[in-house]
Amino acid sequence: MAKSIDVSDLNIFYGDFLAVEGVNMTIPSRSVTALIGPSGCGKSTFLRTLNRMHEVIPGARVEGKVVVDGNSLYDPSIDPVEVRRQVGMVFQRPNPFPTMSIADNVLAGLRLNSKKLKKSEADDVVERSLKGANLWTEVKDRLSKPGMGLSGGQQQRLCIARAIAVRPQVLLMDEPCSALDPISTSAIEDLIHELRTDYTIVIVTHNMQQAARVSEDTAFFNLAGAGKPGRLVEMSPTKKMFSNPDEEATEAYISGRFG
Ligand SMILES: Nc1ncnc2c1ncn2[C@@H]1O[C@H](COP(=O)(O)OP(=O)(O)OP(=O)(O)O)[C@@H](O)[C@H]1O
Ligand SMILES: [Mg+2]
Repeated sequence: MAKSIDVSDLNIFYGDFLAVEGVNMTIPSRSVTALIGPSGCGKSTFLRTLNRMHEVIPGARVEGKVVVDGNSLYDPSIDPVEVRRQVGMVFQRPNPFPTMSIADNVLAGLRLNSKKLKKSEADDVVERSLKGANLWTEVKDRLSKPGMGLSGGQQQRLCIARAIAVRPQVLLMDEPCSALDPISTSAIEDLIHELRTDYTIVIVTHNMQQAARVSEDTAFFNLAGAGKPGRLVEMSPTKKMFSNPDEEATEAYISGRFG
């Protein structure tokens, strides 16, 4: 079910502003790819183009190609809603639906896809997804309680459960641990390790150690100056990136000399 992603000559705009320029990248399936780079270089912007979430912002558009397993995402025949089902997303801040129970939060994506579920099917999805997100044992006795009643780390895992409930092929994560304590962070990193056997994962992180721990490949984005577009500087196997990067700018960034 996991799919590879091929990006070619991608330019990403907010109205007239070219935010990210000329990205060429191949993201392998069943592996974890980390996106790193200084604030404002376009990591989140780029990530959102991989499931057509970018264009929900008024005036936002792209040029170029994103091909997921042979399908060109921006082809006029492609339904963006179906793209978002296949390419799930987890945001920086946990965003469970505030009025919904834990179980209903997990099922929310499926219900948005207007699937009618029998009670037994729904129960199975809730259990499978919460187990997949390493949250089941902590919440199994309070599934009908509000999702907002969980800790921040639990809420983030609930959002991951919601994302994997629809069985996406690709999972995009935008700084999923930035608001979390080391224990919750470690739980989510363990989870990423487990998920990689079934999913293609792309994770934005500001934490170099985290990129080194969880990813096979790392892409470094940078920008030449304020108001200039972000660019992909280098993408390499993570081990190489953190030991012997090709570009001087990468070396400077990962060794903390700027950014
Ligand atoms: N909705 C928007 N409208 C206009 N410009 C935007 C919008 N969102 C982001 N930008 C601009 O696009 C550029 C890239 O922003 P983006 O949020 O992708 O950066 P980032 O690398 O994710 O940064 P950070 O590490 O701080 O999250 C920035 O110049 C930003 O100001
Ligand atoms: Mg961002």
